[in-house]
Amino acid sequence: MKKLKNLLAAIVMIACGQSVQANEPDSVYLFAYATEADNNHGGLYLAWSHDGNNWNSIGRQYSFVKSDYGAWGRQKRMLDPYVLRRDGQWYCVWAVNESDNAFACTQTADLMLWKPQDYPAVDAPCVQKPVLSVRNGLFVVTFAANGKYYEVETADFTSFGKTKETTASQHAAGQTVVKRLPSGTAAGQMFRVSWSEVDDLIKFCEYKAYRSELAAERTEHDAQRFAGLKPLSVTVEPQSDNTRAISDMLIGIFFEDINYAADGGLYAELVQNRDFEYYPGEGRDKAWGHTYAWSLSDSLAQLRIDTVAPLHPNNPHYLSVDFDNGIALSNSGFDGIAVAKGETYDFSMFCRSHGKGGKIKIRLAASDGRTVAAASVNASAGEKWKKVSARLTAAETVADARLEITPQFAGTADFDMVSLFPQNTFMKRKNGLRADLASVLADLRPRFVRFPGGCVAHGNGIDNIYRWKNTIGPLEARKPMRNIWAYHQSMGLGYAEYFQFCEDIGAEPLPVIAAGVPCQNSSVGGAGQQGGIAMCDMQAYVDDILDLIEWANGDARTTEWGRVRARNGHPEPFGLKYIGIGNEDLISNVFAERYTMICKAVREKYPDIKIVGTVGPFFEGSDYERGWDLADELGLDMVDEHYYQTPGWFIYNQDFYDRYDRSKSKVYLGEYASHLPRRPNNLETALSEALYLTAVERNADVVTMTSYAPLLAKENHTQWNPDLIYFNNTEVKTTVGYEVQKLYGNNSGCTYIFSHLDIPSDDFRVRCRIGCSVVRDEAGDIIVKLVNMLPVEVGASVDLAQLAPGATEASVSLLAGQPAERNLQPVQSVTPVAGTLDYTLPAYSFAVFRIPGKR
Ligand code: AHR
Repeated sequence: MKKLKNLLAAIVMIACGQSVQANEPDSVYLFAYATEADNNHGGLYLAWSHDGNNWNSIGRQYSFVKSDYGAWGRQKRMLDPYVLRRDGQWYCVWAVNESDNAFACTQTADLMLWKPQDYPAVDAPCVQKPVLSVRNGLFVVTFAANGKYYEVETADFTSFGKTKETTASQHAAGQTVVKRLPSGTAAGQMFRVSWSEVDDLIKFCEYKAYRSELAAERTEHDAQRFAGLKPLSVTVEPQSDNTRAISDMLIGIFFEDINYAADGGLYAELVQNRDFEYYPGEGRDKAWGHTYAWSLSDSLAQLRIDTVAPLHPNNPHYLSVDFDNGIALSNSGFDGIAVAKGETYDFSMFCRSHGKGGKIKIRLAASDGRTVAAASVNASAGEKWKKVSARLTAAETVADARLEITPQFAGTADFDMVSLFPQNTFMKRKNGLRADLASVLADLRPRFVRFPGGCVAHGNGIDNIYRWKNTIGPLEARKPMRNIWAYHQSMGLGYAEYFQFCEDIGAEPLPVIAAGVPCQNSSVGGAGQQGGIAMCDMQAYVDDILDLIEWANGDARTTEWGRVRARNGHPEPFGLKYIGIGNEDLISNVFAERYTMICKAVREKYPDIKIVGTVGPFFEGSDYERGWDLADELGLDMVDEHYYQTPGWFIYNQDFYDRYDRSKSKVYLGEYASHLPRRPNNLETALSEALYLTAVERNADVVTMTSYAPLLAKENHTQWNPDLIYFNNTEVKTTVGYEVQKLYGNNSGCTYIFSHLDIPSDDFRVRCRIGCSVVRDEAGDIIVKLVNMLPVEVGASVDLAQLAPGATEASVSLLAGQPAERNLQPVQSVTPVAGTLDYTLPAYSFAVFRIPGKR
């Protein structure tokens, strides 16, 4: 996948039409430096000079490497980079901040494509001003740390030896010089290099700038860009003898517990913090803690959290309250508790009374105190936890009720796992999913569901890696945990529920497991992936993954984990076919070692399970390249690509997969979305996705699965925009992007039919804004998708004489409007077909036609 090289070959032609000059120098000076501007976030810059005094920037402040160390955003800093050239290869080390006892290192052959970064830890208080040199054939990194000097050696720039103290003079022996550049004075290293090397770098930057300009194109400038453009007439000539078998798994969903997608979202539990396990400080809300969402009606009474005799060690905190007659304990739910008239809700809790015990009234109260539903339970005296339950039927529809628990006795009582669950869940499952939300997911006709993330899968630091075994079995025995998005996962929606949902909607489960490393953007436990699970603990981690496959597929009587599944209520195997390893990780050495171990173990024990690997967070760059190399080395079935890009990027990269080598791993485009400034989900973003998906369908022999990301977002609790579906406690608000996914999900094919698309324009900006895909589905229907991202109408004439000779009409789903519109739905109609299908696509539209084919 050395795409960059191929692209570079095209630079000269595409970028600027420069001709080679006769009087170019043989060699010039190159200067590598960073600046302190923006708190050292800029990364490594390059400049060149004829004489070493007068400097020219290469690219407009183009950063050739950016530090990936530390948590998202502000922590990713590059201080005092030191660059060394040895045997034609460039090596770079830098300090990652003022405090950590690690430095960063990477290398490159051409200064353009750098290897994934590593962050070797040293036995010194911190690393300041690292200097790289060569001694006796070994690399030596010398650095300062609080007034002392240290060094580490390495032969391969990968494994670094012991930290030894050294002298100030050794450290000072570096080659750092200070130069006056167009942007100001900077310290760095100067090299004599050939002019052609610098020339390549300049062209590389020009190419990047050119691609960025294209990617930045937005519909708001279409009036100028396409001034004078008249409506167009295009013809589509499908070639019935030029077809390709394509994946019928193309459209799926990616569920991650982000934006309150799980607790307070898809998971139908109505009590917030039912387990009293909200950890102080884990949430964004200052009031966050074990008693969050709970209150007592008497301000003098106290909510006391205890851990002395918990219900289960995995769920160590519980609530203990001294009651006088009439004090009510109440839970405010997730922004209130929404109940509907006539619906029944199952209440349950574990409790014990340290006194005599007695009756406890349970009530759903509206905000003005009136009773919406009532029942009662009995708390028996004694030290043992007892589960009590009741049913509440709502007398009216209320959006913001609260749950009240009022013991009718005086004394101390303990509570845990307080739950209120609608009976009307999706497919009426116990401990199930919110019916309205799950239904809109099912309506997408997803062929697979990826879960539980995203970054939730690899977590914020090692201790936050998602462990599937903590999420199955009795709810009180599951292990709740904060998630990387800074709120709580009760794990009530766990692996059993994810698998059940897949079964209920006929989708393949695609669990994604961390590759033994946490998220590279972790904010706890050191900087991300350098803190992978210790190798001595990795076998146990690998065994957990193998157990997952046995749990999903193993025989209910003869296998240990199959028995566990059966005990948990699902004797039949789930028929797991896919497993994802890793989530857009930094492909560091720490990562590669653990990932390789896991993939090999899965492959060896379960050769039929398809492994979906990872190639980093972007569509290009170090992690993408190294990730693909690893996929090749390991012979993985599929890799998970992620990219969030602008509409312009999607418009101008429709050939992205046309260029892919068909003999390599397949692609799962696991996270993508079109992003505009301020991140709306509108017709512009949705059309760019629809357009790109026409090209993905063409390449569905390589791209076998896709999922838009993220999926769900609760209003007022949204950390990430845009999302596919927004919701609150009573409403589900689908987006235009959702409509595009639904149209694709409900109109996929298994055969792609190549077409000649004749567009009467030689302006590539026009041509790239019209997309077409023709597929045949399993039933033999012909499905034509046409996208028009132009500000003018496009009349399309599709020749169907060969594909659907006797057809007289086509059903049409048309999504059209103004680019900034957010609330659009497709309009259904029927259009005549008589050998050809003639249809005028409005400006900014997406139309899907379905024509009964030869049966
Ligand atoms: O989709 C939101 C986040 O984007 C995912 O958690 C992560 O994988 C990606 O960075």
